[in-house]
Amino acid sequence: MNNHVLSTDTLNLYYGDFHALLNVNFSVYQHSITSLIGPSGCGKSTLLRCFNRMNDLIDDVKITGSIYVHEQNIEEVDIIELRRKVGMVFQRPNPFPFSVYENLIYGLKVHGIGNKKRNREVVERCLQAVGLWNELKDKLSSPALSLSEEIKQRLCIARLLTVEPEIILLDEPCSALDPIATLRIEELMIELKEYYTILIVTHNMQQAARVSDYTGFMLLGELVEFGETSQIFTSPKDERTEGYITGRFG
Ligand SMILES: Nc1ncnc2c1ncn2[C@@H]1O[C@H](COP(=O)(O)OP(=O)(O)OP(=O)(O)O)[C@@H](O)[C@H]1O
Ligand SMILES: [Mg+2]
Repeated sequence: MNNHVLSTDTLNLYYGDFHALLNVNFSVYQHSITSLIGPSGCGKSTLLRCFNRMNDLIDDVKITGSIYVHEQNIEEVDIIELRRKVGMVFQRPNPFPFSVYENLIYGLKVHGIGNKKRNREVVERCLQAVGLWNELKDKLSSPALSLSEEIKQRLCIARLLTVEPEIILLDEPCSALDPIATLRIEELMIELKEYYTILIVTHNMQQAARVSDYTGFMLLGELVEFGETSQIFTSPKDERTEGYITGRFG
């Protein structure tokens, strides 16, 4: 047994003829924050999307190699269950055009695990977890789309938590936020890692350095280097990683 929550073994992904991921061997440890960094187009989002099979929605994608959640090949996991267990937050906050409350109980309805009393409890617990309960407890029937970008993004995280995921994938979750809101979301991630395992794609190297325990550097579809964040940023082993973090390219 190892404590890899997510891992890949010789993962290759092709969009048609384009080879987007090359022999990627990657692991994410339990209750850690792992960042994926690298220049635009290097395959960060593609790799992230492999873990909840979001690439399956794209035509003409071919995948070889294996992807595991714990020891289980994700091909063998029911896709609805996989997406419950491995939740995803996107670059732009995307609440549904419903009330705050309806957003929060949506997942419970989809999974058929809600009832009136339990829904109330779950809504409170999940808003507490993202630091929004005091702010929103009297606004549960307000339209979610009327909230600020930061609050929307927190709400999207709370919406994931309602279905008790194990892993949270975040694809540049702060790119629509100002620097102060960004720091607050980073604090939230650090709080959440006590209970969840977090994999985040970020363009922002300072963000990776601030929040993550482990960092992977990608270039042209390859995972060039992976290690503890402090090692990647202070003594990278690969000269391409060093070039990137010292700002020579990207
Ligand atoms: N649906 C798709 N069809 C064809 N090619 C794609 C598709 N999605 C991504 N690509 C290509 O795959 C490569 C990796 O894209 P990906 O979006 O994973 O990169 P990224 O590292 O997340 O970039 P960014 O930092 O700009 O978000 C890019 O060359 C991109 O053009
Ligand atoms: Mg991307």
